[in-house]
Amino acid sequence: MRLIKVSDEEELSRMAAEYVFSKIKRSERIVLGLATGRTPLGMYRHLSKYSKEYKQSYSHVHTVNLDEYVGSRAYHDYMQQNFFDHIGIHKNQTHLPDGNAVDLEKECKRYEEVVKQLGGIDLQVLGIGENGHIGFNEPGTDFSSRTHVVELTESTLRANAKYFTHEKQPRKAITMGIGTILESKEILLLAAGEKKARALRELFQGTINSDIPATLLNHHPNVIVLADEGARSLLEEES
Ligand code: PGA
Repeated sequence: MRLIKVSDEEELSRMAAEYVFSKIKRSERIVLGLATGRTPLGMYRHLSKYSKEYKQSYSHVHTVNLDEYVGSRAYHDYMQQNFFDHIGIHKNQTHLPDGNAVDLEKECKRYEEVVKQLGGIDLQVLGIGENGHIGFNEPGTDFSSRTHVVELTESTLRANAKYFTHEKQPRKAITMGIGTILESKEILLLAAGEKKARALRELFQGTINSDIPATLLNHHPNVIVLADEGARSLLEEES
């Protein structure tokens, strides 16, 4: 795991966007795994700007998102508003789990098949939860889990409550599994702010265990972690 130290959220956003954009530019075809939440917002803003400045085509880019709330399109809307609307990507090249599916188990299987049919994920962007979750893989999730329905923990519900001013916050979500995520060829994890410091300390200095799902990334050979000062504040070498 490679740690890249940045000073603040703005530098983190710019570096993440430069990294992803260089991959988009250099690839003949690329499958991007995308995340939602507060952390990647700046990255999407920069990517949208670069795309316009360089008139970048997205015809060779496919995206698969990590998760969606059950009974909601909150993350569909987030992706549309913060990224897809700005880059002119064709709708059928973007994928998210359907949280409104009648048969959720079937939807999980369909989503796994989508990732498989695309040939797997080339670069997966991840945030990290205060409790160490990745995607919505909450503490205790199995190392080999595939896309599944989760019951969100109180910590996650609290952290995301601010996004649900217009609709009732769902307590369940569909998430790519840890096994699915770990099959990505490369992973870029973004961590900003002191609220993520404990999870980051576990990621780098804790024991690998499913109670802090992010620690399972230590099993992956190609992970870059971009972390700002706040997120690194509990790492031993920093103190
Ligand atoms: P955040 O969420 O970027 O909104 O902090 C990250 C996560 O929960 O994975």
